[in-house]
Amino acid sequence: MSRVAVVTGGASGIGLGVADELASNGHLVAILDRNGPAADAAAGELRTKGAKAIAIEVDVADRASVDRAFAQIRSDLGPVEILITSAGIESFDAVPDITAEKWDRIIAVNLTGTFTCVQAALPDMLAAGWGRIVTISSSSAQSGAPNMAHYAASKGGVIGLTKALAVELARSGITVNTIPPSLVDTPMAREAEVRGDFPGVDVVGPMVPLGRAGTPADIAAACSFLCSDGGSYITGQIIGVNGGMYI
Ligand SMILES: NC(=O)c1ccc[n+]([C@@H]2O[C@H](COP(=O)([O-])OP(=O)(O)OC[C@H]3O[C@@H](n4cnc5c(N)ncnc54)[C@H](O)[C@@H]3O)[C@@H](O)[C@H]2O)c1
Repeated sequence: MSRVAVVTGGASGIGLGVADELASNGHLVAILDRNGPAADAAAGELRTKGAKAIAIEVDVADRASVDRAFAQIRSDLGPVEILITSAGIESFDAVPDITAEKWDRIIAVNLTGTFTCVQAALPDMLAAGWGRIVTISSSSAQSGAPNMAHYAASKGGVIGLTKALAVELARSGITVNTIPPSLVDTPMAREAEVRGDFPGVDVVGPMVPLGRAGTPADIAAACSFLCSDGGSYITGQIIGVNGGMYI
């Protein structure tokens, strides 16, 4: 069955992989991303594969731009039934170096941005009596991580938000789950590697119990299942797709 799926952060990395997978499942896909040209290119690529896809430049931390985007999606594609929130930013700073501005921006994008997109999508799901929401959190919120207090706190908030939504929305036919990745080979991870924030994908990858870094396709496969009818009895769960890094 073809549904309207929104993927935030869909222009790169995990979101791009999820958008590709959902489009190949026959869904209509809206890619929301702060990087407008990259979002356009990603949607264009999906269209060349025969999918119906649109791109909208959005800062998820800006409620007005999120509301405008969802109004456009409703008019171009129809009511939203699937939402994947992958838009996110990271930063590595020792606690004394976390400025108020840095803290606020990470919370605004990763946590408040997730909440804002859920709120914007919800009226359609409630009207349909059916919905699938998958948030992308982080294993750093499960295990803790040095120099990531702001990031881990934002992602811990996403996990708590996911559970609260799952309980509140269960009787409305809406499931809400979170995937907290550990190390996924994406532009975000490669940029952190170049900055010297961690030893690097090719160094840490072999330390993962399954012997490699994850790929966007690994995360997308789990997302796809959660959004399918087969995932209909799973809600409020933290689905670790992490190669065994956090158990
Ligand atoms: N790559 C990893 O190892 C890893 C591990 C744990 C969690 N995550 C999480 O997975 C998600 C995706 O990460 P990724 O590795 O694919 O990163 P990425 O940088 O490759 O992709 C993130 C996308 O989000 C977009 N984005 C950033 N801020 C935005 C905003 N304010 N509004 C709209 N779009 C915005 C970016 O433009 C980019 O296209 C993030 O939430 C990240 O925190 C990634």
